[in-house]
Amino acid sequence: MEDTNPTQTTSMPRIGDKAPEFKAVTTQGEIHFPNQYAGSWAILFSHPADFTPVCTSEFMTFAKLEPEFEKLNTKLVGLSVDGLFSHIAWLRTINEKIEYRDMKNMEVKFPLIEDITMEVAKKYGMIQPGESQTKAVRAVFVVDPIGIIRTIIYYPLSLGRNFDELLRVVQALQTADAFSVATPADWRPGDDVIVPPAGSCGAARDRMESQKDMKCYDWFFCVRKISKEQVFEKILKK
Ligand code: BEZ
Repeated sequence: MEDTNPTQTTSMPRIGDKAPEFKAVTTQGEIHFPNQYAGSWAILFSHPADFTPVCTSEFMTFAKLEPEFEKLNTKLVGLSVDGLFSHIAWLRTINEKIEYRDMKNMEVKFPLIEDITMEVAKKYGMIQPGESQTKAVRAVFVVDPIGIIRTIIYYPLSLGRNFDELLRVVQALQTADAFSVATPADWRPGDDVIVPPAGSCGAARDRMESQKDMKCYDWFFCVRKISKEQVFEKILKK
């Protein structure tokens, strides 16, 4: 969706779109997104600036949780509009000097994109001028193994992300794909999942009568059990 304001050149990818392609320099060498992540899930996320406190707390938490995302076959890719040397100096400071909560000597092993020109940030609608003209907001794009954007979350500069929610989003998307179901409010692995509504009331009633493992609150709202073990058996990387 192109912005209609002639003073700005920005675009906003949407859920269901192919993730816009780019090549970029990162702290782990050049990457080609989303092409080189084919076959894996990816979380592309932006942060406003290196050497800032909220971002530091987030990067330490991403580094701590990277193995959990890896178990879900999910790679992390960060971005800010700072340069490579700033990124390297900041990540080194985090590693050598910052002890925060239970995190110490945190090593950020995933790539952090330098985007001084804001080319990638603009492609992904990460520059939101009402919030900041010069910094990316805290955007999160969850991209599936065929390069389709499956979830987008934006946070303002002042609000650090909720990492339980980011893990839950990936688990829920993968569960929905693996079992052809939807997930209700606050779903966690092991909770009941939603069986998508049938095409007609009659079909739903027949289904209610025939499927013993389903519970229906009404014709349009049926759930079934999938245990935590069944979920993790399907979604965890072997
Ligand atoms: C922070 O990460 O602490 C931050 C960055 C930019 C603006 C405000 C806060």
